[in-house]
Amino acid sequence: MAERAPEDTVAVAIEDRIACVRFNRPEKRNCMSPDLNRRMLEVLVDLEFRDDVGVVVLGGEGTAWSAGMDLKEYFRENEEKGLWATRRAQREAYSWWERLRWYEKPTIAMVNGWCFGGAYGPLFACDLAVAAEDAQFGLSEINWGILPGGGASKVIAELTGFRNAMYHAMMGENVDGRKAAEWGLVNEAVPADRLEARVREIAGVLLGKNPHALRATKWAVRRVREMTYDNAEDYLIRAQEAANSFDAEGRKEATRQFIDDKTFKPGLGAYDLNKTRD
Ligand code: ACO
Repeated sequence: MAERAPEDTVAVAIEDRIACVRFNRPEKRNCMSPDLNRRMLEVLVDLEFRDDVGVVVLGGEGTAWSAGMDLKEYFRENEEKGLWATRRAQREAYSWWERLRWYEKPTIAMVNGWCFGGAYGPLFACDLAVAAEDAQFGLSEINWGILPGGGASKVIAELTGFRNAMYHAMMGENVDGRKAAEWGLVNEAVPADRLEARVREIAGVLLGKNPHALRATKWAVRRVREMTYDNAEDYLIRAQEAANSFDAEGRKEATRQFIDDKTFKPGLGAYDLNKTRD
């Protein structure tokens, strides 16, 4: 088969304000080549500030979500070129994962199949994650003689308990979507034929929330993980005050709909965003 053009390594479809971005090298199980990494950053940057996009879903074409880094194009070919080529390729990969970790819009990983090694970077970068029950997750690094780098050791230590993390990293055995949910690698696992529908359902709920509050919330949850209680408390006061400076009307409108109009209850769902006055 002819080499896939760099711009075709990522597929994008936008429907109902949900941008579905897919790793698109199914013939290579969506492993991440330098071309794919460069393209993914371009795609994410393009989608981030578009008005017709409210949620980004990251999925995979074919039988894989992503089989991790491309052992040929990312590792071997760059190592042959020398240290700078390797460093450059690392930067290109890590930069889109970082962009995604601190993305302006909510993101959902839709893990449909194989998810290995380097793919734990974008998995962790997404705010939420749903897997097919039969998806396969593995830190296969140990199987080919390296440690789980590119953040993968950090990801597993962050997302699951110490014994699970050690076992997963040291044994090189895969776990399925159900176990991944049990361990906390994903929020939930659903039958493969329900995966897209469930992700769209979650995305639909997110689209009904105040987008400024959502961004502040997801950044807050990531930031406070590494803070003391006192620092977190202080950060959260300042983050809310900063949000008030550009989104003064949202919560006032919500309070009005609850207290005055009695048209919604915050404990039971989101206020009507369409009634917000600018
Ligand atoms: N790097 C480079 N090529 C890959 C990768 C990869 N990570 N994964 C799959 N491919 C290629 C295969 O070499 C093969 O190429 P070819 O058609 O030119 O021979 C093609 O994709 C299809 O792969 P198969 O192995 O034939 O597919 P199968 O469905 O049988 O197996 C599986 C899928 C289990 C994902 C297997 O391809 C595999 O083990 N891939 C490597 C997974 C891995 O360990 N990734 C690295 C993690 S560590 C890290 O990311 C730092």
